[in-house]
Formats: sequence, structure tokens, C-alpha cells
Amino acid sequence: SNKIKNAKLVLLGDVGTGKSSLVLRFVKGQFIEFQESTIGAAFFSQTVSVNDESVKFEIWDTAGQERYHSLAPMYYRGAAAAIIVYDMTNPASFSRAKKWVQELQAQGNPNTIMALAGNKADMLEARKVTAEATKTYAQENGLFFMETSAKTALNVNDIFYEIAKRLLLQ
Ligand code: GTP
Ligand code: MG
Repeated sequence: SNKIKNAKLVLLGDVGTGKSSLVLRFVKGQFIEFQESTIGAAFFSQTVSVNDESVKFEIWDTAGQERYHSLAPMYYRGAAAAIIVYDMTNPASFSRAKKWVQELQAQGNPNTIMALAGNKADMLEARKVTAEATKTYAQENGLFFMETSAKTALNVNDIFYEIAKRLLLQ
């Protein structure tokens, strides 16, 4: 049917977890060691094909710094999907991710597809958040969970592809 679906997608998560790096990897296939902290938010778009259908993602990469928190509703309101990112080497960022999930559940659209990304999976020796803890949390909260690395590209296309598949089923 060559259907094309437009979908607003927002990335949320603590400062430095790798939101911009995941988007840069997905949209441009690049990685920057010294990625600058986002100010406000940044917009990107990228299309994913699933069989003969496609999803055109309109991506809002939000700023993790706490002083931008009040802007977040502008970006998650009306979003078809959200990727909540934590850094698996940083337990505080996992706590922050859970708060984002709560905020989305309380104020967002119940149909928003939520994905949890445990990023920096290339830094396994520094891991502080276990996959088991996150899997349990994700199951209990109706999210899907993947460990990703913007640096090595592990699961980066996969997480967007999985979201696209789910959106096309809606
Ligand atoms: P804010 O915009 O401040 O909210 O941060 P952010 O979540 O966009 O993080 P950003 O993409 O700027 O990445 C922060 C730092 O982590 C940068 O130095 C990146 O190079 C690094 N980084 C991001 N993703 C990865 C990853 O998967 N592995 C490793 N090793 N470093 C990463
Ligand atoms: Mg950023």
C-alpha cells in the first residue's frame, strides 16, 4: 500500500545520557566523543521503512539539563512515541528515567509508545544498572527496553525500527 505515516517522537532523559548521540547515529550514522549539551531542543527527521510501508519520524531531541524541564511538555505533547534514555553506568540517570516515565504516564497520551534505552552499552566494565533490574521495571510499566550504544551503533536502528513497526500496527 506504500503507506507513509508521520510520527512525532521525543527523546527524554538526564543530561549526558546520550540522547543527541543516539539521534546523530540514527540520522547521520555518526558519533562524536565531545557532543555538546543540547540547549532547549533540537529537531531532526528520518524515515524508516517496514516492508512496503514507512514511518517518517519527526524527532525532538530535548535538553536533559534540569533548567529545561518545564519545556518538556511542548515536546512530548502529541508524541506518538518517546524514547527515555538512561546511561547504564549512572544509576541516578536510571532514577531520572523512571521519573520521566511517571510524568509521561500522568500527563501524556496513553497511546504513546514508550521505549527505554539503556545507553553506553559499550562501557560494560563500568555498568552500574543491571539489565535484569531494568527488564523487570520495563515489563511492569508497559515499556519496551533495549540496551544501546550510540558509539558502536548497537541497537540504535533497531529501537527506531521496533517503534516504527508498532506504530504501523496501531
Ligand atoms: P544533554 O543534551 O545535555 O541532555 O545530553 P545528551 O543526553 O544529549 O548526551 P550527549 O549525546 O550529548 O552525550 C553525552 C556524552 O556521552 C558525549 O560525550 C557522548 O560522546 C557520550 N556518549 C553518548 N552516547 C554514548 C555511548 O553510547 N557510548 C559512549 N561510550 N559514550 C557515549
Ligand atoms: Mg543532547
